[in-house]
Amino acid sequence: MTIQPAAMTAAPTDQPAGRYDRATILLHWLTAALVIALFALAEIWGFLPRGTPLRKGAQSLHISFGLLLTVVLIARLAWRGGRGRRLPPATTGLQHLAAKAAHRALYLLLAAQVVLGFLFRWAQGEPFQFFGLFDVPAAFAPDPDLAHRIGGLHDTVAWAIIILAGLHAAAALIHHYALRDGVLRRMLPG
Ligand code: HEM
Ligand code: HEM
Repeated sequence: MTIQPAAMTAAPTDQPAGRYDRATILLHWLTAALVIALFALAEIWGFLPRGTPLRKGAQSLHISFGLLLTVVLIARLAWRGGRGRRLPPATTGLQHLAAKAAHRALYLLLAAQVVLGFLFRWAQGEPFQFFGLFDVPAAFAPDPDLAHRIGGLHDTVAWAIIILAGLHAAAALIHHYALRDGVLRRMLPG
C-alpha cells in the first residue's frame, strides 16, 4: 500500500490530496465569515443611539451569530481532532513556528471569546435568544458590574482576534501572490 505524501490522515472526502478536506474548508470559511460579521455588527451599533430598536436588533443578531460560531468552533475542533485531514507543514523553521503559534492563538482566542460572550450576556440579564427561536437559559443572576468588566475583556479579545486574523490573512495572500506556492489553495475548495 502506498502512502500519499501530502495527506497525513486518510482523505474523508473526494478533495485532492494536497488540500484540506471539504468539511475543514467549509468550517474554516464559516468561522472567518462569522468572526468578520460579529465584529462588523459591534462596530456598526457603536454609531447607533442607545436603546433604539435598530441597535437592539444588531445586538440580537450578534448574539445569534455568536451562538452559531460556538457550534461551528466546537464542530471545527472535533473534526480537526478526529477525521479531519491534516496536512504536513507548508513551511519550515521560524515561518512554520510562527504559523503554528498563530493558528493555536486564534483557536485559543476564539474559545475565550465564546466563553466571555456567554458570561457577558448572562451578566447583562438581557434576552439571550437564537434568531428568536429559543432562549438560552440564564446561568446566574444579572450583575451590571461584572457585565462592565467582561465587556472590556470581550472588546480587547475581539481586537486581538481581528489583528491576528488580519496578519494571518496577509500571510496567506503573500504566499499566494508573492511566493506563488500552494498554501492558500490548500484551504480553497477544489
Ligand atoms: C469572535 C467572535 C466575537 C467578536 C469578534 C465579538 C465582538 C464584540 C464586540 C467588539 C463587542 C462590543 C464590546 C463593547 O464595546 O463593549 C461585543 C459585544 C457583545 N458580544 Fe461579542 N463578539 C464575538 C462573539 C460573541 C459571542 C460568541 C457571544 C455570545 C454568544 C457574544 C456576545 C456579546 C454580547 C452579549 C455583547 C454586548 C451586547 C450589548 O451591549 O448588548 N459575542 N462583541
Ligand atoms: C477571522 C478570520 C480567520 C480565522 C479566525 C482563521 C483561522 C484559521 C486557523 C485557526 C487555521 C489553522 C487550521 C488548522 O490547522 O487547524 C487557519 C488556516 C488557514 N487559513 Fe485562516 N482564518 C481566517 C481567515 C483567513 C483568510 C481571510 C485567509 C486567506 C486570505 C485564510 C487562509 C488560511 C489558510 C491558507 C490556512 C491553511 C494554512 C496551512 O495549510 O498551513 N484564513 N485559519
